[in-house]
Amino acid sequence: MDVEICDLTEINVDDALAVCTSDKWRDVPSYRRGLKVRREWLLRLYRTVGTCCKIAYIENDPVGMIQYTPLHRVPYFRTKRKDVLYIHCIFVKRDYRGRGIGSKLLDALIDEMKKPNPLFEANTCRLFVTTARERFAFKQPSYFLLKGFTKTDDNVDIGLAYWLFEKKPEERLDIPVSGPIQVAEKGVRIFYSPFCQYYASTWTENIRKFVEEVKPHTKVEQVNLWTRPKEAIRRVVTCPVTYVNGTPIPPMDPDPFWETIKAKL
Ligand SMILES: CC(C)(COP(=O)(O)OP(=O)(O)OC[C@H]1O[C@@H](n2cnc3c(N)ncnc32)[C@H](O)[C@@H]1OP(=O)(O)O)[C@@H](O)C(=O)NCCC(=O)NCCS
Repeated sequence: MDVEICDLTEINVDDALAVCTSDKWRDVPSYRRGLKVRREWLLRLYRTVGTCCKIAYIENDPVGMIQYTPLHRVPYFRTKRKDVLYIHCIFVKRDYRGRGIGSKLLDALIDEMKKPNPLFEANTCRLFVTTARERFAFKQPSYFLLKGFTKTDDNVDIGLAYWLFEKKPEERLDIPVSGPIQVAEKGVRIFYSPFCQYYASTWTENIRKFVEEVKPHTKVEQVNLWTRPKEAIRRVVTCPVTYVNGTPIPPMDPDPFWETIKAKL
């Protein structure tokens, strides 16, 4: 079984979307809206930052992908460091798991980032970070631990680290650890991210519907973390979060998530 790893371009962007779209979801209208949001985000990243996704192919069929951005180009992480790569997610189609495709994607990224790289303006990257947050339908942190990432005491949304070169004793990340913070406000604000078609639309639309059922006429606002990061930075929001009457509720397993929203409305 030959696996080919290719960079995302304008031509194959739909393959990156296809990898993590199952038949069950393909025709769900909210999911389709999310696909459009993620597609536009990927293309904008490609045009402004560079290639930020690798796709694994078996006989021209896209079967896996890894998505990433230099940390300093993620607008809601404010950092002075210019040598850190943030991994948004890795995904391999269910039927192709356990055949080393995830490892091949990660190894290709490590090999590329160890060399002077256009994503880092011809400098090298020193460190990969990714979220340590286990959340509903997001089962990747344990995989990164298996692949040599280690848990740090940094912000949980960059709480797993993989050093490409030896860490210097004084070397640190400069992202605040505490957050998201409580604020004084009424209503619901959903901070969402375009990096995933589910979180870009189905998630936000489900929250809207739920809020309307529990407490009709509650004001609900959606904030795209990539296009309106200012308010996210003020609140130290570093992942998709729902604020209900000023209380931040991060994504978690469905039962406590919906119960917590209800309790705070
Ligand atoms: C994690 C994932 C990318 C691994 O891909 P893969 O191609 O199966 O990985 P590999 O073949 O390189 O590695 C397989 C090994 O990883 C282990 N593994 C797979 N998923 C794991 C997980 N979530 N946690 C811990 N270990 C995991 C397997 O048990 C296997 O271990 P072994 O080598 O000791 O037998 C794949 O399982 C996946 O896509 N899972 C869903 C990830 C997800 O939720 N992404 C975010 C949502 S968009």
